[in-house]
Amino acid sequence: MLSQETINIIKSTVPVLEEHGKTITTVFYKNMFEAHPELLNVFNHANQSRGRQQTALANTVYAAAANIDNLEAIVPAVVQIAHKHKSLGITPEQYPIVGYHLLGAIKEVLGDAATPEIIQAWGEAYGVIADAFIGVEKGMYDEAEQMPGGWRTFKEFVVADKVVESDVITSFYLKPADGEKLPSFKPGQYITVRVKASGEKYTLNRQYSLSQAENGETYRISVKREDECVPFGKVSVYLHNEVNVGDTVEISVPAGDFFLDTESTKAVTLISGGVGVTPMMSMYETIAQTSPERQVAFLHSARTRKHQAFNNRLIELNADLPNSAYEVLYSEEGDGFITREFLEAHVIKGSDVFVCGPTPFMQSIIQNLHAIGVPEENIHFEFFGPAEVLDLTHA
Ligand SMILES: Cc1cc2nc3c(=O)[nH]c(=O)nc-3n(C[C@H](O)[C@H](O)[C@H](O)COP(=O)(O)OP(=O)(O)OC[C@H]3O[C@@H](n4cnc5c(N)ncnc54)[C@H](O)[C@@H]3O)c2cc1C
Ligand code: HEM
Repeated sequence: MLSQETINIIKSTVPVLEEHGKTITTVFYKNMFEAHPELLNVFNHANQSRGRQQTALANTVYAAAANIDNLEAIVPAVVQIAHKHKSLGITPEQYPIVGYHLLGAIKEVLGDAATPEIIQAWGEAYGVIADAFIGVEKGMYDEAEQMPGGWRTFKEFVVADKVVESDVITSFYLKPADGEKLPSFKPGQYITVRVKASGEKYTLNRQYSLSQAENGETYRISVKREDECVPFGKVSVYLHNEVNVGDTVEISVPAGDFFLDTESTKAVTLISGGVGVTPMMSMYETIAQTSPERQVAFLHSARTRKHQAFNNRLIELNADLPNSAYEVLYSEEGDGFITREFLEAHVIKGSDVFVCGPTPFMQSIIQNLHAIGVPEENIHFEFFGPAEVLDLTHA
């Protein structure tokens, strides 16, 4: 337990953190990677370069500080991050390394303003927050290992099939290399793929949503080739160009708290943009397999018909389901984007709404969902990168 004095110090430093949060975490990463270059095998360098990871960590530290006497309030955030950590094989031994360099960065950036009392208080607070993560993650690792066919961090899988789904999206069907059973997963969850790409000094880790309902045979991921901007996306381009049937990749157990509640009979609206379709495919197929009477709307936005994956499968599923609607808009073929009016017409009233796509897409959809009166607790969304704070002020 933290003393009231420590809590007071932590809370009073929140404005300073707010001001320097991003600088502190930038210094922190630089120093930590200098001292522990092996951690470059774990972190996503593209997220680092674009400052996205810095923002995510700064946001969390700020949220934790603001709620230090009521950590319950950040439990959902802890669980979401713990899923990501679990998918990356983060260990308890790594927490003191992060803590040491975080405190060091606070000292470095704040200079004399970081009194010994402040550093002491933050050391204690970090310990409390780290213990919360370590505890949640231990539970997740234990559960993963105990599942039939389960494992703890990474395991080798063979590419059993590789299927082109559109001009930019290709699916990979993955089977355990040791022939063991496949652990079950929740529709909407993702795995981390870990690869050692040619010419790369470090291993690369990327998350991919499972894009099919559970079938006990293979996990399917569907990857968009990121080669429109320079530098090209490392893992997606490597998977598209160099990973073929018979090759192996290492993957984590399924993780993530963005999933369909299969026990519920509540109506569901699935809204995706581009490759954000992947978790929705798993949810839609699962509804078809397990509760075909459930009311569902599948709303999708793609740039063009050629960019879109799974259209035929979606038409087929929609035709098979008695209470389903499927709507697709091609933004570059004259249909425009998903608007408030479109949502008003197609979001099922009172449904659980799942949203996944590029950040501007999510921002616009979620603003409009609020505007048409969908309650916050019915809205679920997944970022295909570190969680960001959406600007919803223009709703
Ligand atoms: C939970 C989750 C689920 C996901 N599911 C899917 C999925 O189902 N399908 C899918 O395709 N993707 C999915 N993703 C995204 C995926 O994990 C990868 O982020 C994506 O494939 C890009 O990885 P990459 O290695 O190809 O690109 P990276 O090398 O990571 O680069 C990403 C982008 O950053 C830019 N970039 C790289 N370096 C720099 C730099 N120095 N400065 C500026 N910009 C830079 C690149 O141009 C590129 O556009 C998911 C992500 C998450 C978190
Ligand atoms: C209490 C301490 C920690 C906090 C508050 C924290 C916070 C976060 C947050 C907010 C994210 C982004 C989650 C998302 O993707 O939505 C994240 C991801 C991540 N964390 Fe942590 N973390 C902590 C400890 C650690 C430790 C000890 C390690 C291991 C060295 C670690 C490694 C990672 C990695 C590799 C990612 C993924 C980032 C990426 O995409 O490169 N974290 N963490």
